[in-house]
Amino acid sequence: MKTSYLIPDITPKVKYASINGQNYELKAGESILSFVKRHFGKETIPTLCDAPNLEAFGACRVCSVEVSRPGNGQSRTVAACHTPVEEGMIIQTESTSIQSLRKNIIELVLTDHPLDCLTCEVNGNCELQDVAARVGIRKVRYPEGKNHLDRQKDTSHPYMTSDLSKCIMCYRCVRACDEVQGQLVLSVMGRGFDSQIIKGANESFMESECVSCGACAQACPTSAISDVFQSKSLVGQDKVKTVCTYCGVGCNLEVSVKSGKILSIQAPYDAEVNQGHTCLKGRYAFKFYNHPERLQYPMIRNVQGELERATWDEVYDYIANKLKKIKTENGPDSIAGISSSRCTNEENYLMQKFIRAVIGTNNIDGCARVCHSPTALRNAKDFWYRCSY
Ligand code: FES
Repeated sequence: MKTSYLIPDITPKVKYASINGQNYELKAGESILSFVKRHFGKETIPTLCDAPNLEAFGACRVCSVEVSRPGNGQSRTVAACHTPVEEGMIIQTESTSIQSLRKNIIELVLTDHPLDCLTCEVNGNCELQDVAARVGIRKVRYPEGKNHLDRQKDTSHPYMTSDLSKCIMCYRCVRACDEVQGQLVLSVMGRGFDSQIIKGANESFMESECVSCGACAQACPTSAISDVFQSKSLVGQDKVKTVCTYCGVGCNLEVSVKSGKILSIQAPYDAEVNQGHTCLKGRYAFKFYNHPERLQYPMIRNVQGELERATWDEVYDYIANKLKKIKTENGPDSIAGISSSRCTNEENYLMQKFIRAVIGTNNIDGCARVCHSPTALRNAKDFWYRCSY
């Protein structure tokens, strides 16, 4: 007798929601903002407190949209950045009431913000300015709030500066310090117009526990916290994508360059490795690129101990002779090699092969082992062969 089996349909069911009258496929767990951005690009819904590398926060409400259900004419207004999209949802991103709500929100933000755009260091590269233009602000209808011009600029830190009269309380710096760097230095004190970002126990950047990662400066949509080295608005700068030269993580960097000089370094949000973040070395320690004392060609120290320019052939001969001499006089274990985490696997393989097979010792290490521990040990003990021989 033929047996029939009931085979369950396990094909994943495609779910849809509508954006401005058209159905689009949604992904489980995404917010309305990411759903709309995925189908229409990132410029579709204006945002202020949202950032690609931070959890949704819902502070500014600039991303407001209207949502309703089929057969239910009643719509409600929600913040797109932290409202999950649901199957069958009808989303209106540009209705008249939403446009006027966004405009009203920005007007209220501007009552508490100095309107000195023309002289502001981030003029032309300010998210508040962009959003204000986008929602059509020509003038602010409300009386000025407290625009906090009495708040002193904090210039205590070598890398970051803060001008809290420009703060719009989006909390992006606080969340970056918390969620990205995990340092919890920044927080908010006070309420209403008096609320303000503080560092540590309301101290200066320099006195606080800040580790100078600069995540707050990158997160800030205005110039409330910015990098000392850069003017975000410098005209004529080129953006070059590159990889950090420091450790083995390989963080992606976006370098602003003008006339061959580095102006600033930011971390791109779309980089798989570092997702909009770097440590302080990657972000701020770039002066060596243009430093006049940077080595640009091989040099050998003469008998007086002064460095003299040499050719690569001379340098290779010098190194080979020195290594041979050390090995003959003291044995192969008097030589060690420290390889670099910024080299490729193949280069590191060759280095260990050279040290083991050619020199004849197992004294080989790499700076990636617990962040520069062998390099630091070498520096501390000062046993660089040049000093001893
Ligand atoms: S961007 Fe959604 S509430 Fe600010």
